[in-house]
Amino acid sequence: MTDLTGFIDYRGYAAMQHAEAINVFRRFITRVRPQRIVEIGTAQGGFALALRHVLDEAGLSAAVVKSFDIYRCPWFETLTESNLEFITEDVFHPAYSALSKPELIVPFIQEPGVTIVLCDGGYKIGEFNLLARYIKEGDYILAHDYIETESAFHQDFQGKICNWHEVRELDIAESCVEYGLDDYERDEFRNVVWVCKKKRTLLL
Ligand SMILES: C[S@@+](CC[C@H](N)C(=O)[O-])C[C@H]1O[C@@H](n2cnc3c(N)ncnc32)[C@H](O)[C@@H]1O
Repeated sequence: MTDLTGFIDYRGYAAMQHAEAINVFRRFITRVRPQRIVEIGTAQGGFALALRHVLDEAGLSAAVVKSFDIYRCPWFETLTESNLEFITEDVFHPAYSALSKPELIVPFIQEPGVTIVLCDGGYKIGEFNLLARYIKEGDYILAHDYIETESAFHQDFQGKICNWHEVRELDIAESCVEYGLDDYERDEFRNVVWVCKKKRTLLL
């Protein structure tokens, strides 16, 4: 027996997450009280819906969830009635050297109030390194399928918790230095195979 998990049925919609992820995000969202969430990689929409419900439970019904994917499921029309926005566009250049449609995402991230950016699309390293440029002081950026090193993946995760490993610390370390990003609740997010970084507030 293992605790391998990577898929949840959330109210009839698939969320490609560790079984404990929603609880971890509930604690996070309740603590940091965001005004908006960007999810890169909607897939079937289950995690976006869970985030919507977590925001509502925390009294944050006015917070906006925008989820981006290059594909669209037919049931997104129904989910839109749950106060979710689905953007079916590729906002990234093919080599992830730049955003191809910054106007769809950058002004939204930069609106006043705390923004959470979730990198869970087709190339999480590229998403993180590009979007880290645009978050504001006090915002958070997270990447899924993160385990700090190859050896930690083999030792603690593979065959036990998660068989996916897409992002290591060295893939995002340069951006963290350049944009002033610090670890946030590292252990809690590690348990559900995410990493969370907060953009430092400069004291003048
Ligand atoms: C791991 S799944 C996302 C899982 C989802 N966040 C969840 O928790 O259920 C990755 C998704 O990224 C999408 N994707 C691939 N390239 C993308 C891009 N350039 N922009 C946005 N999404 C992309 C894929 O279509 C796929 O649905």
